[in-house]
Amino acid sequence: MCGIIGYIGSRKASEVLTEGLKRLEYRGYDSVGIAVLNDKKLEIRKDVGMIEDVSTTLQFTNIEGNIGIGHSRWATHGVVCKENAHPHFNTRKTIVAVHNGVIENFTKLKNDLIEKGHEFTTDTDSELIPHLVEENAKSQSLLKAFMKSVRQLEGSYAIVALSTEDKEERIFLARKNSPLVIGVGKGEMFCASDIPAMLKYTKTFVPLQEGDLAVLTKHGYKVYSVDGSETTRKQITVDWNIEMAQKCGYPHFMLKEIFDQKHFINESLAADVDSAKSIIDEYEKIDIIACGTSYHAGLLLSYLLSEKGKISQAFIASDYPFIAKPNEKTLIIAISQSGETADVLQALRYAEKSRKIAITNTVGSTITRISDSIIYLNTGPEVGVAATKTFTAQLAVIYKLIYGKKKLAELPKLIELMLKLENQIKKIAVKLAGKEHAFFIARGKNVPIAYEGSLKFKEITYIHSEAYPGGELKHGTLSLITDGVPLIALAPKDDTIPKLFGNIKEAKARGAMIVGLTNDEDVKKESNFVIELPEIDPILYPFALIIPLQLLAYHVSVLKGINPDRPRNLAKSVTVE
Ligand code: M6R
Repeated sequence: MCGIIGYIGSRKASEVLTEGLKRLEYRGYDSVGIAVLNDKKLEIRKDVGMIEDVSTTLQFTNIEGNIGIGHSRWATHGVVCKENAHPHFNTRKTIVAVHNGVIENFTKLKNDLIEKGHEFTTDTDSELIPHLVEENAKSQSLLKAFMKSVRQLEGSYAIVALSTEDKEERIFLARKNSPLVIGVGKGEMFCASDIPAMLKYTKTFVPLQEGDLAVLTKHGYKVYSVDGSETTRKQITVDWNIEMAQKCGYPHFMLKEIFDQKHFINESLAADVDSAKSIIDEYEKIDIIACGTSYHAGLLLSYLLSEKGKISQAFIASDYPFIAKPNEKTLIIAISQSGETADVLQALRYAEKSRKIAITNTVGSTITRISDSIIYLNTGPEVGVAATKTFTAQLAVIYKLIYGKKKLAELPKLIELMLKLENQIKKIAVKLAGKEHAFFIARGKNVPIAYEGSLKFKEITYIHSEAYPGGELKHGTLSLITDGVPLIALAPKDDTIPKLFGNIKEAKARGAMIVGLTNDEDVKKESNFVIELPEIDPILYPFALIIPLQLLAYHVSVLKGINPDRPRNLAKSVTVE
């Protein structure tokens, strides 16, 4: 979940690394650091804090040199402090490394190295990497020592390292269960955890595969399999541009990405779903696996598939191996915007006998390599930690899969219409910003949207929030509904309204402050605040509902002085289990 960047070429490495780390910060933002090689010496600067502040205070871009590596941390081993920030180095400061992942056998390896005289100064598992390479390099070339070290590691890793004692100028790479992509330039090479960090310089990339090792020089790259034999990996070209990874005048990425939806929805609707559709037709039993926001999209997909007569269930990916027994007769649909979520990948590996369809936004991601058919979201990079446009895009491709594109002709206009409600939503946000709790209710196919609205709300406002099918309130939660507690009711005029209306009244009778997302006159009368829904084909209500909920979460977050792009303790891409 950390962000990694590396550069070798003729540019000032410190500038490329600093720029790249700004694009990668969504992956982790506890602490940040860079190491640049200049004249056979390493200049390492790192500290706790955000890239913008740390790079200014420590004057990152003053460092001279054309080779370097950088890291933005999301702590796993060891508290957040300067020492534990990456890059890490050996005692002689001749080898430096950045790491994303968790080294599971680090205690044993570290103890062995201590016995051999290595001195450790941090609590991290990552620090052992430069020590291990140094130890192995005593008896063999640096490349072989790096390869041997990587083979000794158990767990997950993306590693980028370099040495002052390397006779050639090289950067060493390794990946297993953590993403790492090579960026191919002319007379310069890049590597990073994610493509947006390199978009300013190149559009040609080589995603490394599980177990790959690689070496970058200024003039090219070589990829090796885990056994050390040279291998080839496919180059990909992306049509993303740098503006897609910039705020473009918006105060936050999240707001930009919410508004992006009106542009990208057509791209998502153009997604190729034909091959997935014919695979789905062959199966009766379909398991859906995903996490967080993607799970909510998966839940809706399971409802729609069940409606079509399939036996379908959505599973939280991390729990899938504990409760499901997939076999050759089970089709798996995995949903992951990043395509790198560790919980999803391990669930996919668990379902080894089953055929797999992936729904993802990320070309070249791991999920695309272990699936039989892929549906791309086509919605451009999403930088804000809170998923917004990718959720809507997931719904769009799911709907296309189930209903066909014709039924969705009104969708782009609907999204524009809902975005126009921003000013009205801002006023409601003021009423919610001081609250401690919030409850979201809906029924039927709107329930996954209530879950998603509640997740969005809690993750960026830090207000405790829960979501339920309306009928569940009376089975326990109603005891928490007292004077002024917000109840956000997703109440479009569809088949769910008669029952949901009863639930709204129950809550109102106990003093709840009702925010009604509705076009029903009775619900409006019960609501303290109304977010007006248009009269549309009822199948489209989930799209009409999610956009105001994204805007509501965003504006409450901003009113509370929180940076919605970087909520505490979270990272965009969750590459640890
Ligand atoms: O990349 P994925 O879709 O697999 O990510 C899964 C979750 O971590 C993600 O959806 C998360 O819940 C959202 N960023 C929350 O807004």
